[in-house]
Amino acid sequence: MTHRIAVVPGDGIGQEVTPAAVEVLEALDVDFEFVEGDAGDAVKAETGEALPLETRDLAADADATLFGAAGETAADVILPLREVVGSFANVRPAVTYPGLDAVREDTDLVFIRENTEGVYTGIESEITEGVTTLTRVITEEASRDIAEFGFDYAAENGYDDVTIAHKANVMRETDGLFLETVEAVAEERDAVYDTALMDALAMHLVMHPEEYGVVICPNLAGDMLSDLAAGLVGGLGLLPSANVGRDNALFEPVHGSAPDIAGEGVANPTAMVLSAAMLLDHLGRGEAAERVRAATETVLDEGPRTPDLGGDGTTDGVTQAIVEEL
Ligand code: NAI
Ligand code: MG
Repeated sequence: MTHRIAVVPGDGIGQEVTPAAVEVLEALDVDFEFVEGDAGDAVKAETGEALPLETRDLAADADATLFGAAGETAADVILPLREVVGSFANVRPAVTYPGLDAVREDTDLVFIRENTEGVYTGIESEITEGVTTLTRVITEEASRDIAEFGFDYAAENGYDDVTIAHKANVMRETDGLFLETVEAVAEERDAVYDTALMDALAMHLVMHPEEYGVVICPNLAGDMLSDLAAGLVGGLGLLPSANVGRDNALFEPVHGSAPDIAGEGVANPTAMVLSAAMLLDHLGRGEAAERVRAATETVLDEGPRTPDLGGDGTTDGVTQAIVEEL
């Protein structure tokens, strides 16, 4: 069976790490058809559109999409692309790897972030000069979807600890509904879980990450807590993510276009390669996904490493090492 994958490198280091991930996928014993689309600052400068219709269609029609990064137009590209694939769950693992300097050695966290509502619905207004408002939307339907996805994920991936992050003591209506709905799903399944106020949770994650596993979060909390966890394990060059929908999905590194190092050939391809591993899982190619993760971990441990990890390796050098491991 051939998997049709939309490949959207975007801007900056997206142009460097995306071909690296494709090269790793091509080294596997899996049939892919890659179809490439444009998006981001460069295509906007050329055509006036940050996300051309053809790219939207490629993502809609593919089995899955690999996205690199966009620059200043990131919000105009990634938000509609997530919508195109019907994504409601953002999955962000943050794991420490052997051999790397990490703030916390014993971190194995997965943030399951609600991806469609909360404070990111864009319902903002200026009531009068100097007074602005934002409407926070929480629905039972979306809360139930993320809860079911989160508890499934924990069970399928062997995580015993599930924490529900919330701030229902202050946002009584919205997070009240979120907490009540996620807890109801847990009770229906007899799942073991804990709840945590999201501000206190931020502190506990830094001091005792080993006490946590899967963290189910409303949108903004998931965005912030997962970046905090990136800091614990060694930086943005390492963190992959998945945007999962009912029958389509998009995979991207958590990092952006990194204009400070773009074009130098030294971007760390790890986050993008691990995103490709998540894509393989999604396609039901778990064994191939494990091979990619194992090869990547070996190279992280033994080198070469890119400068963000203290090495003097290149994007291409690391990619070739992973391919050789495979
Ligand atoms: P960034 O993630 O691009 O870079 C932050 C820092 O981490 C930089 O010093 C960069 O060199 C480093 N870094 C990131 N990824 C790396 C990698 N793979 N290897 C080595 N070093 C890496 O975030 P920043 O600087 O806040 O934003 C830069 C641009 O990216 C902005 O235009 C922003 O809008 C866009 N952006 C796009 C995103 C997306 O497309 N999903 C997400 C975040 C930012
Ligand atoms: Mg973010």
